[in-house]
Amino acid sequence: MKDLVRRPMNEADLAEVLQIERSANRFPWSKQNFADCLSGNYQSWVYQLPDSMAGYLIVQNILDEAHLLNICVQPQQQGKGIGRFMLEQMINDAQQRQAKLIVLEVRRSNHRAQQLYLQQGFNEMSIRRGYYPAEQGREDAVLMGLDLSLMMDFAE
Ligand SMILES: CC(C)(COP(=O)(O)OP(=O)(O)OC[C@H]1O[C@@H](n2cnc3c(N)ncnc32)[C@H](O)[C@@H]1OP(=O)(O)O)[C@@H](O)C(=O)NCCC(=O)NCCS
Repeated sequence: MKDLVRRPMNEADLAEVLQIERSANRFPWSKQNFADCLSGNYQSWVYQLPDSMAGYLIVQNILDEAHLLNICVQPQQQGKGIGRFMLEQMINDAQQRQAKLIVLEVRRSNHRAQQLYLQQGFNEMSIRRGYYPAEQGREDAVLMGLDLSLMMDFAE
């Protein structure tokens, strides 16, 4: 990840972020969704390669909980370890902030992302029925969590 630089997302990034979001997701976030995340209690990060944006990650911090709202890698850059690198950095940030829990929702059909989360120690907590729009009706979300207090206990 030598050439990968993380920096805060800003308004000027939104066009490129939306392009990636639309190319990587069947039901992409809107421009307004991202704009909302640039204000308030969110951390919005862009991951930049020398000549292009590789991806982005958005976290909402609520007290001692961090909610991973969006993680996305530009399709041509997927499968190279970038997503794992971004997630590891996010987990590290949450630990630094003394968060106790990281939570996220993921589509039941998104095995690729679930694999990544499981590898990083997340567990399935519950199912949110019909949480996402889908081509036919709605799709369930798997609510996954990473208990950082357990990780801290192990580290001690
Ligand atoms: C999910 C996502 C962020 C992963 O990023 P990535 O850079 O492609 O992932 P990495 O290269 O770091 O791979 C990490 C792990 O993900 C899983 N993974 C990656 N590509 C995979 C594939 N083609 N099939 C199955 N699992 C895969 C593997 O577990 C992999 O670990 P391994 O290489 O040790 O097997 C990326 O695929 C993406 O942006 N997808 C579209 C948006 C999305 O679904 N976001 C998650 C919403 S909850």
